[in-house]
Amino acid sequence: MAIKNMKNKIIIANWKMQLSLAETVRSAKKMKTKFSGFKKGKVVICPNFLSLAEVGKILKGGPIELGAQDVFWESKGAYTGEVSPEMLKEAGCRYVIIGHSERRKYQLENYEIIYKKIKAVLNTEGLVPVVCIGENWDERMTDKRDFILVDQLQKALGGLDIMSDQTVIVAYEPIWAIGTGSAIEPAEAEYAHKIIHLTLSDMFGIETVKRNFKIIYGGSISSKNAQEFSGLENIDGLLVGGASLNVDEFFKVAKLII
Ligand code: 13P
Repeated sequence: MAIKNMKNKIIIANWKMQLSLAETVRSAKKMKTKFSGFKKGKVVICPNFLSLAEVGKILKGGPIELGAQDVFWESKGAYTGEVSPEMLKEAGCRYVIIGHSERRKYQLENYEIIYKKIKAVLNTEGLVPVVCIGENWDERMTDKRDFILVDQLQKALGGLDIMSDQTVIVAYEPIWAIGTGSAIEPAEAEYAHKIIHLTLSDMFGIETVKRNFKIIYGGSISSKNAQEFSGLENIDGLLVGGASLNVDEFFKVAKLII
């Protein structure tokens, strides 16, 4: 039987490119009200770049923290269209999603780029990278999942120094489960998380992993299935897409996991 994970759990809402500025502001205000008095764990929302500064102001002083969906690796300069870690911090961000599979697919982001982004975020005091990894359907069906996860972790994080006060979140998001409405079997997620845990332990040492890393799951989480993930040993939280767009639904999921 799985041992209950006692780590402080985290739930992150990834709003992707789903809401306009006005809708984002409305939802952020509702979230702040809904979660007032929610003292357990950590709750994070990641709106689009355009809305960050505005949402940062709304969330100030409340229980919800702010995250970004992407970042650039330089701090300043002639990089059209990009936003630096320092700028995210200025807008009130604490978390930064890096290497989401949708960016790997549509922006052709690879793990060389992802590594640079993680490094830049770790070099910016107070920011926490949320590093996305996960296999696609073909890789799963040809028994390559474990290899893919190890390879992605090594490419994304290999050689980085993690300071004792830093946190790195690794989000396991099997690409084939994202946006489908059906999450993977919790046992399968737990197995993948074990692989991730073992790989990180090899790379950074058991103590560092215990102290500085969180491993979370993402892919079609809703209030219907979140409970099944809450007691698993190696799962420190959830990254939620679709279900986070509805404030009441997201609140339900948060209560189930944290
Ligand atoms: P869904 O929860 O909509 O499947 O999205 C998951 C995700 O991609 C979160 O980053």
